[in-house]
Amino acid sequence: MNELILGIETSCDETGIALVRDGELLADVTATSMDEYARFGGIIPEIASRAHLESFIPTLDAALEAARVTLDDVDAVAVTAGPGLVGSLTVGVTAAKALALALDKPFYAVNHIVGHIAVDQLVHGEFPDRFIGLVVSGGHSHLMKVSDIATSIEELGGTLDDAAGEAFDKVGRLLGLPYPGGPHIDRLAREGDRRAIRFPRGLSRGKDKARHPYDYSFSGLKTAVARHIEGCLARGEELPKADIAAGFSDAVCEVLIQKAFAACQVNDCDTLVIGGGFSANSQLRDMAEEGSRKYGIEVRIPPIRYCTDNGAMIAALGWSLVRAGVAPSPLDITVDTGLSRETIVVR
Ligand code: KG4
Ligand code: ZN
Repeated sequence: MNELILGIETSCDETGIALVRDGELLADVTATSMDEYARFGGIIPEIASRAHLESFIPTLDAALEAARVTLDDVDAVAVTAGPGLVGSLTVGVTAAKALALALDKPFYAVNHIVGHIAVDQLVHGEFPDRFIGLVVSGGHSHLMKVSDIATSIEELGGTLDDAAGEAFDKVGRLLGLPYPGGPHIDRLAREGDRRAIRFPRGLSRGKDKARHPYDYSFSGLKTAVARHIEGCLARGEELPKADIAAGFSDAVCEVLIQKAFAACQVNDCDTLVIGGGFSANSQLRDMAEEGSRKYGIEVRIPPIRYCTDNGAMIAALGWSLVRAGVAPSPLDITVDTGLSRETIVVR
């Protein structure tokens, strides 16, 4: 099984192209349009789509060169078909179809969220028979039970409103931090006292918890932070930014981690795999490590460069599909901005 898999990711603002052979990452090149959004405070889909168009060929060429292969060496093409921004997804999927057709090679239209988990195989090796996956990023917060990354994923829960990274970015704006606020809050939080301000933990108690054991909700927390800031300003006090950041991070990470470990225990899984850009968060990593020791569960988190959006995650998932003998996608599939979490490959 030494097929060469080309992975293409263009669901949001990163054009990621990677090549994987037999579980080995030969090249992983990413171009991003993130710098263009700081002045808008958020991604502008039209700018992102145009940036993908401009970056696609140079990124592909750079990946082929880094892997020292040519397009003719490629045995299968995998691409993100959703979820994501419609224009951005369309650029990658159209390019992938054209490549697969021209090379006469199988085409796999895959799920971005599953890719965030699949990439971990390239770093930490084969997955166990079953495990829990937690994907946390600017657009997603999902808990899933994975029995086979190529064929069997069960959605356990996810956010009912904001994603974890999105909540960080919104609170970053409230604190006057540059976009995206996530990394800035992380840095500030390390200087603050996480016990100074106790913010609410969504869906973590009583009936809410019973009804939503694996779901998340961060919008109430965001409102609580906004109220706290308003209160300080109304009283003419200086904003305790570091303590707010620390209290807020603590609330988000505690719920994310507690529910993930609960899912491991209830589903008799001894491994937790965490992916997505938010897994760069230092508090989440600390709490995951603490939980790992406390509950005897192995926690696998890929290095940060594989947690943010990249082509390696899609090439890794393509490799799993080819290895498992899963049938490719037909060339007439369309992108699906709200692709179901349990769909691994689009038919
Ligand atoms: O996975 P990603 O690169 O893009 C998608 O959203 O798919 O994740 C980016 C998100 C942003 O919301 C960013 O603020 C957040 O991850 N993020 C962080 C940290 N680094 C990135 N949030 C908290 N702490 C961090 N260190
Ligand atoms: Zn992502």
